[in-house]
Amino acid sequence: MVLSEAVRAEVRKWMDLYPQGRERSALLPALYVIQREFGYCRVDAQNELAEMFDIEPAEVGGVVDFYHMFKTEPTGEYHVEVCTNVPCMLRGAGQCMHHFEEKLGIHHGETTEDGKFSLGHMECLGSCGTAPMAMVTERATGQGRYFEEMHSAEDVQKALDLLASGKGFSTLERWTPEGDPESSGKAAGPYRIGGMEKPVLTARIFKKNSHKIDTYIADGGYDTARSVLTSMTPEAVVDQVKASGIRGRGGAGFPTGQKWSFLAPAMPRYLVVNADESEPGTFKDRIIMEYDPHQLIEGVILSSYAIKAERAFIYIRGEYYFAYTRLVEAVKEATARGFVGQKIFGTETNLQIVVHRGAGAYECGEETALLTSLEGFRGHPRMKPPFPAVEGLYAKPTIVNNVESIANVTHVMRNGVDWYRQFGTEKSPGMRIFCLSGNVKKPGLYELPHSTPLREIIYTYGGGPQEDTAAIKAIVPGGLSMKLLTPDQIDTPMDYEAVAAAGSSLGSAGIIVIDDRTSMVSVARRTLSFYREESCGKCTPCREGTTWLEEILIRMENGGGRDKDIDLLARITTFIAGKSFCPFGEASVWGLQSNLAKYRPEFESYIELTNPDEVAPVIPIRPIYRPDTGKPSVLHEASIEAEGDSPLNRDTPVLAK
Ligand code: FES
Repeated sequence: MVLSEAVRAEVRKWMDLYPQGRERSALLPALYVIQREFGYCRVDAQNELAEMFDIEPAEVGGVVDFYHMFKTEPTGEYHVEVCTNVPCMLRGAGQCMHHFEEKLGIHHGETTEDGKFSLGHMECLGSCGTAPMAMVTERATGQGRYFEEMHSAEDVQKALDLLASGKGFSTLERWTPEGDPESSGKAAGPYRIGGMEKPVLTARIFKKNSHKIDTYIADGGYDTARSVLTSMTPEAVVDQVKASGIRGRGGAGFPTGQKWSFLAPAMPRYLVVNADESEPGTFKDRIIMEYDPHQLIEGVILSSYAIKAERAFIYIRGEYYFAYTRLVEAVKEATARGFVGQKIFGTETNLQIVVHRGAGAYECGEETALLTSLEGFRGHPRMKPPFPAVEGLYAKPTIVNNVESIANVTHVMRNGVDWYRQFGTEKSPGMRIFCLSGNVKKPGLYELPHSTPLREIIYTYGGGPQEDTAAIKAIVPGGLSMKLLTPDQIDTPMDYEAVAAAGSSLGSAGIIVIDDRTSMVSVARRTLSFYREESCGKCTPCREGTTWLEEILIRMENGGGRDKDIDLLARITTFIAGKSFCPFGEASVWGLQSNLAKYRPEFESYIELTNPDEVAPVIPIRPIYRPDTGKPSVLHEASIEAEGDSPLNRDTPVLAK
């Protein structure tokens, strides 16, 4: 036996947190336990877990395999993962990775000889406003910490020195070259936040101990929950939220109150908070959970009461370790005060809140995939209908709401419908935390009413283009999945209807500004690398299509593009959009489709410049594995000649004919 009695007891404690018969939900937390214990998810430990959960070892292996954060080999003592997704790329992530490679003397994917550091890359870590950045995981404790704003080789050296000294995890708050209690005496604290003169959702972020229950109560916190639970019916709460017109802040923008009213009558019911903020360019939920977690918890109490749920789960992405610890602490504090648990606020209402960590899978932001993951499986989406409100978690009626949406509930119940509707428009009421990243002077979070013009967010708050000599070339208005806007659309009001009329979507309000120093070919390539990496693998169009698109774009970026590739790319996107099980298909190609449509001349001149003779390998239908190395290889002209007219040498797949 490799699992000690202490480890087994810890796993059993996790199992007890979930409803009877649903203990498998504890599989992800249990895997974190064995990863912390052994430094990675050892197969013999996995097998013993399988026994404990009474499932096949292959099922545990399948789960380990699915999530990026579970390792099957030991990492270094400190595992450094640099985010290289588009918003970070625009602010120098490539250089940052290069500095780490140089300083550590290893390449991406390697470990230093002394076993101290290993290096990898990550997709968006919800830190786009403080790029370039890396997440560092301490093997011995399993804790993760963010190291941000590392612009130079010196900044990277400082971070490495701190880690080497063994003091890198004296706090879990984000580290910056200037903000670290160990080296400079001052903490980095929350990142740049601005916007309305009287902010609402971000009002408390900069207060000392803003995350503690005493300061929250001193600011009137939990008064609303107490008064609602003792004086209003759940139906009246649903009506008020409906009348406010709050729309989901996760991306789809569906009216929250309306969603609640779709709940099937069956019991029990569940509230699941979607805190899996993984859309590149989005980092707003993180700040709420790190610096004002009680605002969210009060919203969870109100929302659970409204939908008559006695259990709520906050599914937080695994990378948000600091936010996770803050939430766990906040739930403990609220439980100790009688605001969570049995007979809360002295009423007959019960509520248990479980904070559940994901393990690195973009797909788990999709609500049905999130529920599957929460049940302890690979994060695959489910067929809709039935919608979660009818058959969700454990096949029971479930409401899945985003963190910012739930935080809005607190304020609507505190201040009323008229107050809320003074902000924004009739159809897009309320305020919004806009996440501004990419090539602007002051990236950060700006809380503003819906309908604030894009220009105002970028120029008045973001300070305009990052470099005075550079011009804005493209803007993503709502997270990387959304279609690009061009500079002449900069006066678009940022509400659902206006952004849709401009040909894109408000999505998660993640605004990514791209200036003319970056090639749109590189933007397209890095975007597709993300979607290829994050496809859950369930649907052929997503899984194979994104791989195929990425291969063409890599070849193009490396100087092997042909004019006809532009049409080929556009054609392949039509095999993916609308052909997949969940919205991932559309999300993976919308950006590319708009990029090709709006910036085609740039693709053409890139090809003209880098490959004037259009000498290029043919794209195989799927990677050919070289017998000598076992690695995928792209067919080159010589091999094409040698292999003749094999189907593998056709650049248009059989599927497309
Ligand atoms: Fe790097 Fe978001 S944190 S792209």
